[in-house]
Amino acid sequence: MVARGEGSEFWDDSGKRYLDFSSQLLNLNIGHQHPKLVAALKEQADRLCTVAPFHANDARSEAARLIAERSPANLNMVFFTNGGAEATENAMRMARLHTGRHKVLSTYRSYHGATGGSIQLTGDPRRWPAEPAMPGIVKFWGPYTYRSAFHSSNDTEETERALAHLADVIMVEGATNVAAIILETVVGTNGILVPPPGYLAGVRELCDRHGIVLIFDEVMSGFGRCGEWFAFDHFGIAPDLVCFAKGVNSGYVPLGGVVVSDAIADTFRDRQFPGGLTYSGHPLACATAVASINIFEEEGILDHARHLGTDVIGPELRRMQEKHPSIGEVRGLGVFWAIDLVRDRATREMFVPFNAAGDAAKPMAELVAACKERGLWPFSHFNRIHVAPPVNTPDHLVREGLAIIDEVLDLADRHYTGA
Ligand SMILES: Cc1ncc(COP(=O)(O)O)c(C=O)c1O
Repeated sequence: MVARGEGSEFWDDSGKRYLDFSSQLLNLNIGHQHPKLVAALKEQADRLCTVAPFHANDARSEAARLIAERSPANLNMVFFTNGGAEATENAMRMARLHTGRHKVLSTYRSYHGATGGSIQLTGDPRRWPAEPAMPGIVKFWGPYTYRSAFHSSNDTEETERALAHLADVIMVEGATNVAAIILETVVGTNGILVPPPGYLAGVRELCDRHGIVLIFDEVMSGFGRCGEWFAFDHFGIAPDLVCFAKGVNSGYVPLGGVVVSDAIADTFRDRQFPGGLTYSGHPLACATAVASINIFEEEGILDHARHLGTDVIGPELRRMQEKHPSIGEVRGLGVFWAIDLVRDRATREMFVPFNAAGDAAKPMAELVAACKERGLWPFSHFNRIHVAPPVNTPDHLVREGLAIIDEVLDLADRHYTGA
């Protein structure tokens, strides 16, 4: 029972304090109760709480302008939604209508939301209960050098082989049937998988060659999480559609959307886009997006996020890796990191199995409980602990949380069976 929150900390109803290394659900990029964000919300509430989607409104227009300005040069329109799932759902619909094709390719080890289409795009076990799948959604393997589906031993091989695999999938599915490829630019919940050099450029090239729309899902990786406005800024690759939510306004009011390329927007100039939402561009949500983006600029939050990754989290996790045999790999960037835990470094056997539950998941549950006991709220998934506090967390709090993880990993080492 959460009673209150401030910045990167929150307190339960018994007064116990937690340091939030999960940013709630990876959305609270700016922390709890930022005074300027709360003030902007109150100010908008006093002026106009709601307005139908067909009206223009200053908060809505300003939010769209600020987001489009931070997007690639040829992406100038924003379609607002209420969250991330509606963003991927509508991006898929735009791509299908724009191309007149029906297939959409997405990766295993991904999450794209829980609505009818977005859960089918999803490449993790949360999709299973929603199957049989919607026709036309095809899965492929993205790159993950540490646990390569292609038996690669380094990033160069992984890029080359993952691209050859994707080219093959496009060939056998029929390139002229493929409307879109959707990727989490940096895969979030399924492992903080940073694409190896050259991979995104290769996907862009395949899309251009075959007239396929490239969709980057930046719902988790955007708005400072990776130290940039969008994770794709790291790689110099521009998609045709960008899905965003979460960190755009830290979820003070639900908001998401799709930034749309001029070419795709043109498709809907004299033809209705059939994706109306009563709360599209909600003024309370948009006013908080405007405030949040301005606060990011005023307070140098992107610089701080980069600093946390480069000077604090990265070095600290690498130091822990030398000490704890149970750490197979650490990886990430900005304020978006994973500790991939193993039983054996040589075989890379996962600390708990894929999608483990009950007794099989117990070793991980023990680590999570030990973190909580010590006042750290962690994010864990399968055999991994992720490090993802609000991106403006001060250094000393990040170090405090990392020290707790360091202590707790002694428990993980006890399960180590390797040499
Ligand atoms: C990459 C990604 N896409 C889409 C979503 C769905 O967003 P929402 O829960 O706001 O619908 C999530 C949520 O975690 C996500 O991480």
